[in-house]
Amino acid sequence: MNDETAIRGSYWLETAPPGDPAPPPPGDIAVEVAVVGGGIAGLSTAWELVREGREVAVLEADRIAAGVTGRTTAKLSALHTLIYDHLRRTRGPEGARLYARSQSEAIRHAAGIVDELGVECEWEQAAAFTYAESPRHTEKLRAEADAAREAGLPAEFVTETDLPFAVAGAVRVADQVQFHPRKYLLMIAEDLRRRGGAVYEGTRVVGLTEGEPCVLSTDVGVSVRADEVVIATHYPVFDRALLFTRLSPRRELVVAAPIAEDRAPRGMYITPEQNTRSVRTAPYGDGQRLLIVTGEHFTPGAADVEERFTRLSAWADDRFPGLTLTHRWATQDNDSTDSVPLVGPLHPGSRHTWVATGFGGWGLSGGIMAGRLLCELVSGRAVEWGGLYDPRRLASVVREGTSFLKHQAHVAKHFVGDRIPSMTEPALEDIPPGNGAVVRVKGRQCAVHRDEQGRLQAVSARCTHLGCIVSFNSAEQAWECPCHGSRFAPDGQILQGPAVHPLERREI
Ligand code: FES
Repeated sequence: MNDETAIRGSYWLETAPPGDPAPPPPGDIAVEVAVVGGGIAGLSTAWELVREGREVAVLEADRIAAGVTGRTTAKLSALHTLIYDHLRRTRGPEGARLYARSQSEAIRHAAGIVDELGVECEWEQAAAFTYAESPRHTEKLRAEADAAREAGLPAEFVTETDLPFAVAGAVRVADQVQFHPRKYLLMIAEDLRRRGGAVYEGTRVVGLTEGEPCVLSTDVGVSVRADEVVIATHYPVFDRALLFTRLSPRRELVVAAPIAEDRAPRGMYITPEQNTRSVRTAPYGDGQRLLIVTGEHFTPGAADVEERFTRLSAWADDRFPGLTLTHRWATQDNDSTDSVPLVGPLHPGSRHTWVATGFGGWGLSGGIMAGRLLCELVSGRAVEWGGLYDPRRLASVVREGTSFLKHQAHVAKHFVGDRIPSMTEPALEDIPPGNGAVVRVKGRQCAVHRDEQGRLQAVSARCTHLGCIVSFNSAEQAWECPCHGSRFAPDGQILQGPAVHPLERREI
């Protein structure tokens, strides 16, 4: 891809910009249900509950639908790469069937909402594909097609796609959906307000006391009393069941370029090869569509993000020659150790606190599914497939063993290893403009950033979540924590949780 001089950020944020922010609560408030987090899981939950006549408030630290949901690839599909063969082996055919049913129902549910509210959100039906170029993966794809079909999806193994390059094979599921996630969610939020729900932006929840009622404290000085509390902050900001041991954060890059309608693939594609690559298109006007290519996933805090962007652009250029890159952004997902989201009670003893997290890269169908499930659970009703997602499910060596141990080893390495002074620790003068490094100043590890004008600013390098050491992502100008994915601006302000406090300022 050729680069345009001014490359823009998330296409979804650009084409559905936020209006004026909703102010924080004017004073202490009391509601039936407080939903913490205004992404797709939080807003879907709040909307479902408001429709049931419940009094609901959404508390969003920043702007609604502007975090991970505003940076997704926006595929609403029940085909999640190779999940069904995995589920068939780890949770049995019934587990795979319940997963397929719950995800397919979420898509149909969203279609009903779009119809009912008349939401203009570029809703398009498209086939979803998991493909591979290398014949090495053909057997895996055949197994996935077989498992997905057995789970109830109209899945088939094919060797022809509308990609402009040959594939060795693919799993195809017809009638999935791609859409504009922010247009959908902003309409949901508007309808929620119309029905009496409240949305508060710029209101970070920093404390939770469980009880009857539960009490939330916020960084704007007001408290919220609520009979029920839903934590839908992507990575949970309150974690009383050690969920952080079962979640690993992953960043992923996105590049986009206009492509002529007659060259644009109509399907939605993902491959497990090549550090994952996914392809879809969106309406762009003037006989064009926007080609959106995703991939290059990595643990937050990686030093080589710019090279990763270059690799992803080069891959897109190789497969779709002659395009000019117009947008690029990054998103973040949390993978659960058994590849199934965690949706249900916040901890084993919890009676009024709920959580939704661990959607992997499939937060749109997952978020809508979570909204339906949490509405039922909060209302005291059971759902046939709810147990599949219950965060209290017991880990088994078969389904979580390897990834659980890998994640713990990774966290331990950063928690302990990053504190040990290294022979190659940089000095302040080694930090180039537009970059940052962790430097020991008077025995303390400081995260020091040098701006383009050469000015230095320093903050504590210890993440305020659980104390791992952050590292600098120069492509996105952010301090990132490799343990659970908190992200901070160069001045220490929070960009993304689970941290709820900024990095402390340091004098250097
Ligand atoms: Fe958990 Fe940083 S996000 S220690």
